[in-house]
Amino acid sequence: MKIGILSAGGDCPGINATIRGVGKAAITYGMEVVGILDGFSGLLYNDVIPLDERSLSGILTLGGTILGTSREKPFKKQDSDIIADKPLVIKQNYDKMGLDSLVCIGGNGTQKTAAQLSALGINVVGIPKTIDNDVWGTDVTFGFDTAVNIAVEIIDRLHSTANSHKRVMVIELMGHHAGWIALHAGLAAGGDVILIPEIPYDIDHINEVLLERSRKGKPYSIVVVAEGIKTRKDEPAGNYIAEQIEKGTKLETRVTVPGYTLRGGTPSPLDRIIATRMGTYAASLLNRHEFGQMVAIHNNEMTAVPLKEVGGKTRLVPPDYFLIKQAKKIGTCFG
Ligand code: F6P
Repeated sequence: MKIGILSAGGDCPGINATIRGVGKAAITYGMEVVGILDGFSGLLYNDVIPLDERSLSGILTLGGTILGTSREKPFKKQDSDIIADKPLVIKQNYDKMGLDSLVCIGGNGTQKTAAQLSALGINVVGIPKTIDNDVWGTDVTFGFDTAVNIAVEIIDRLHSTANSHKRVMVIELMGHHAGWIALHAGLAAGGDVILIPEIPYDIDHINEVLLERSRKGKPYSIVVVAEGIKTRKDEPAGNYIAEQIEKGTKLETRVTVPGYTLRGGTPSPLDRIIATRMGTYAASLLNRHEFGQMVAIHNNEMTAVPLKEVGGKTRLVPPDYFLIKQAKKIGTCFG
């Protein structure tokens, strides 16, 4: 069996560990492995490299993706398209490359494309990947733990300046439309206010909470904001909230936006383990010819969910999530 592996969408820590997991296990099963470059673009333009024991070594700890990635969405028509029928070209190239199956490592968008390719008759296995932890059908994605660790380190360090200067520190964290990173990092780093897209907020209430902290003699406050919260005219979340706080409380306020640092660099040990588990499980699905599935983890057990059920959905933080309930007990404000 000849398998192709690609990574699509935003990069995240653990993709290389996953490529290594799939590739090494596939080789053990006796399969031939190739890497498709730059996401679905590689399938459109036949950009392929062989992956063997040697090229799969030494990449476990490496950030990014050795295969490159892109936001190419072959099923979405765009005016700038040079190729008229991209799905057809992908199917032709898949056959031309002599592939028997395709492993698509990516987030929600990638899994949707994978489901569409599967419907075209391509033997696809999906592997969920994103720092946002928002892929429907799995309890966890690799990349999330690393992103939370980086965010926590950044917030921990902000406490010094916040305390010394008696400021309100607003930290905007990635997460797309979901609040998983802000919730976990906010809790772990002692955020006084945590704003996530899943819970509507009232800026007057937040300002009152901050003023009350100040009246009680608390020298500073930490406000953790998910990038996906609603703001006036879609202004960037951190800047908007900081501006509203300073205006409403007259407390000196600063904003920090770690941005892409959350998804750069080496994966955490936990993400290396998740990536390796998911990669090797994907290879076992290929070996059993169980296609049209996305690898998933439920209750810490490896499993698979049909790709057609995953496509187009997002896993958001439930507003009654147990961590939110617990955080409220220690006085954390959610808006
Ligand atoms: O999905 C991962 C993510 O980093 C999100 O948190 C963020 O909203 C988005 O990607 C940024 O995407 P891009 O790489 O296209 O700027």
